[in-house]
Amino acid sequence: MTMAPASSFLALSGIAVSTVTLLYLFPRRRQSFVEPYPPGPESPNIPALDAWIQFQEWGREYGDLVYIRENNMLILNNAHVANDLLDKRARIYSDRAMTNTMKLCGFDDILSVQQYSDKWRGNRRLFQQNFRNSVNSRFYPDQYKEIHQFLQNLMDVPEEFMQHMMLLSQGIIYASLYGLDIRSDKFVAQRVERTVLSFARALSESFPAFERFPWLRFMPSWFPGCGFQEVAKECIAVINEADTIPFDQAVKNLKMGTGTSLIAELVLESEGNPVAIDRIKAMGTTMSSISSFFLTMTQHPEVQLKAQAEIDHVIGRDRLPTFEDRHSLPYVESVYREIMRMHPPLPADLPHVSTEDDVYRGYYLPKGCQVIANICFEQACTMLKDVRRGINRDPNMFPEPDKFMPERFLNSPTPTGPFTNINNIYAFGFGRRVCAGRHMADNTVWLTIVSVLATLDLRKAKDDAGNEIDIPGEYTKTFFRHPVPYQSSITPRDLQARDLIFATAVVH
Ligand code: HEM
Repeated sequence: MTMAPASSFLALSGIAVSTVTLLYLFPRRRQSFVEPYPPGPESPNIPALDAWIQFQEWGREYGDLVYIRENNMLILNNAHVANDLLDKRARIYSDRAMTNTMKLCGFDDILSVQQYSDKWRGNRRLFQQNFRNSVNSRFYPDQYKEIHQFLQNLMDVPEEFMQHMMLLSQGIIYASLYGLDIRSDKFVAQRVERTVLSFARALSESFPAFERFPWLRFMPSWFPGCGFQEVAKECIAVINEADTIPFDQAVKNLKMGTGTSLIAELVLESEGNPVAIDRIKAMGTTMSSISSFFLTMTQHPEVQLKAQAEIDHVIGRDRLPTFEDRHSLPYVESVYREIMRMHPPLPADLPHVSTEDDVYRGYYLPKGCQVIANICFEQACTMLKDVRRGINRDPNMFPEPDKFMPERFLNSPTPTGPFTNINNIYAFGFGRRVCAGRHMADNTVWLTIVSVLATLDLRKAKDDAGNEIDIPGEYTKTFFRHPVPYQSSITPRDLQARDLIFATAVVH
């Protein structure tokens, strides 16, 4: 699988001097003379924003595998292919790209960008032990508390719904990991925001001189090409702050007997070894899925009514939904799955990197290749009709892929039916690098969706003349994608629903 057959080497040995020159120029790519590279554009212009639209176009032109030789980048436009490479051949497709700048900024301590190594394996194991499905009930109390608080916030100040979503996503992570209430600690919340911004800066700014000459780290920051040192300094400072402040507080609470938390217990168990966790993406991604749900429901009141009818029928009106209700609510489940299909927060996954040369479907895939699973990007798909689409908009798997149709999951047999496991929610990625927090994320997004449906009506806002304000339904054009702010009307379904939300304040 990863080596060319012996006959290929024999054939190679007979080739003349000109080839030797080429082999010298491309030493790691010699197998390309046996199997061709997958098709792809010759000298592509990959746009910084909305690159996915371009990926889609190439998909139409070149097929399921698109190889960009200049960047040693492979785009996968089909679920089969993504599973074949990223899952079945995970041993060689599980690395991540790590630049010198990222290393200097302390990124090699962050699980999601860590290279495929013993360090990553150890961190991933620890993360998984604490976030696997069978131990997720540990987080239920915090999830209920935060989601019920979210309902109250929506009832009290509905126009700030986007902020409430962000607070919910951050709140669940901080409460479940550190046992801290982020609402009462504005300092922590501000630091978190600063960390995200610094990370984005370190990831987006490029320092080519430093990438080529790593010894530049020993030069003063005013030296030409050494601007990376300032970025790195800021990044390390905020990582330290964001790590140590909640961390110290959690350990202090445990020692003083004023509260326990996952992190504090792990720290005590491992006698002070640092615990690798991944807050940044975790916070943003659940927020993105929940805001996509709000946007979609405002655009589809008929779906909302149908889901509410199911909840009323199964649960009644005198209590809020719980995790135990999940299997009795197939339509709500299908709404959730359809949101995750149409609006994955990371439409191009996180790029995997290969660690060995490989041959797949007769094509040569060189070592060090950045492999991007094109999960899908909405604008791209709706702009380009009849094209070969990303994974979640593949018409062979999802007929009429651009339509929001929760029923597709109800009617279809397994494996796409709603109650098969979450491995077929491609929004969580593939293979050994699949989202490590997916069970917790899945629970959070589902419980938020069902709780909102049970108690609130999401409708278009009206202007002063009483006309509905149209929602453009736009999304950010970024790697991590979420709806751009819009106006909406959020009201309790009725007095009974309002009382149910009020009552949660007494419970928690
Ligand atoms: C709806 C919410 C979420 C979505 C859609 C999502 C999606 C993803 C995706 C696409 C990846 C990359 C997978 C790949 O490389 O193939 C990823 C990685 C990761 N996610 Fe999530 N995620 C979500 C929430 C969370 C939460 C709540 C946590 C933590 C509690 C979390 C922790 C992680 C970690 C640690 C990784 C890195 C795994 C590794 O590289 O080994 N995620 N996520």
